[in-house]
Amino acid sequence: MRFDTIIRGGTVATASDTFACDVGIRAGRIAALGADLGDATEIVDARGLLVLPGGIDSHVHISQPSGPGIVMADDFASATRSAAFGGNTMVLPFAMQQKGESLRQVVKDYHAKADGQCYIDVSFHLIIADVTDGLLGQELPALVNDGYTSFKVFMTYEGLALSDMEMLKVMSVARDTGALVMVHAENYDAIRFLTDRLEQAGHTAPKYHATSRPVAVEREATHRAISLAELIDVPVMIVHVSNREARDEIARARARGLKIYGETCPQYLMLTERDLDGLNMEGAKYVCSPPPRDRDSQTACWEGLQQGIFSLFSSDHCPFRYDDPQGKMVPKGKTSFRWVPNGMPGVETRLPILFSEGVGKGRITLNEFVALTATNHAKTYGLYPKKGTIAVGADADIALWDPKRQVTISQSLMHGGTDYTPFEGVEVTGWPVSTMVRGKFVVRDGELVGALGGGDYVPREKSLLAQPAGGNA
Ligand code: URP
Ligand code: ZN
Ligand code: ZN
Repeated sequence: MRFDTIIRGGTVATASDTFACDVGIRAGRIAALGADLGDATEIVDARGLLVLPGGIDSHVHISQPSGPGIVMADDFASATRSAAFGGNTMVLPFAMQQKGESLRQVVKDYHAKADGQCYIDVSFHLIIADVTDGLLGQELPALVNDGYTSFKVFMTYEGLALSDMEMLKVMSVARDTGALVMVHAENYDAIRFLTDRLEQAGHTAPKYHATSRPVAVEREATHRAISLAELIDVPVMIVHVSNREARDEIARARARGLKIYGETCPQYLMLTERDLDGLNMEGAKYVCSPPPRDRDSQTACWEGLQQGIFSLFSSDHCPFRYDDPQGKMVPKGKTSFRWVPNGMPGVETRLPILFSEGVGKGRITLNEFVALTATNHAKTYGLYPKKGTIAVGADADIALWDPKRQVTISQSLMHGGTDYTPFEGVEVTGWPVSTMVRGKFVVRDGELVGALGGGDYVPREKSLLAQPAGGNA
């Protein structure tokens, strides 16, 4: 039977293999892999290109409330457009509860923001801020049942930090329902104590954000989160790990047979604390939590990726405009780093950075790149094998890569809502030239060709990591 599209002459890579092969696509799915596939409505010439599963960025923040007077720089249209240009075919943002809100209503509100506004596919994690009996007993189990099979809990941030008791209760529901818990591990009281002390000493510049959240704050919380998970016997994903000590907590837990998983992000490979020490407010561009650390931390994060301690490489895209009082330029009267919104953009640069710095510099293989950026995300968050691989029957979510293209990352090349990239001037080799979601091009040869609304919402199965027999993303 004739195909809709054949991608011809490229080199396909999955998480396990690399092979020369044509890809036949029918009705949005991969229908055949092989040579001489016959005829198609359209033949795409992929000679000289890599044919990779589209990136899945399982940690992005879009249109999230971020405090009084602060507005996130991306809505679903701009974030998913930017993601598509960065070689991604799916993102997983958060539906964030605030105290007093019904989680079910929050989810409805996020759907209203996303519906018809996405260029690529999306699915929501939940953020739990208000641990009530109703949430634990009814809302959460029902939402897991409806395909919201992962939730993030915070050990820090005003209005979000959960107590250990609340963490245990949420983990217990995760165990009962087969959902996966993602943990933001930083010690809230320690950060508040250090922040107060720094402000009292007049240390208010953005660089003190890093001083207020040192490694010990992250290491302690990571250890505590692991201990709580051990008590409940539930798998957890420690997100955005920034340094050796937190990494080693995860490695030790894994060596003891606990199902503890880790994620790191481009900022922890590419930036250091010194980036926060720019002139005037420049450093605010790099304020995120945990903060970028030092060279040894970068090395430790690379090793974490190489050794499988971290199975996910996500952007933690959390976009605010720099030159904007609703963004990083906090309004007058709020002068300390405490008020700078945490987070930086990165959904468009995640893949080129890991490809160039990782595959290009021999730190990881091409297949590890695919695993870290697509396949493991699909396995971890209940999307595999529909998403995250190139296999017959999978959605035709594909990025065509020019492995030789040299690009200097610059804001002028970006397609999101922010006015800066933290990776300005970084030279990369390897660039996604076209992105296809369920068989339709969204970006083609560097041009946006997809329609707004072409991205679907995707309900998810339970994580392979949270199944009784375990799994290994
Ligand atoms: O600074 C960061 N990472 N902001 C995003 C929110 C979060 O904690 O992931
Ligand atoms: Zn976080
Ligand atoms: Zn985040």
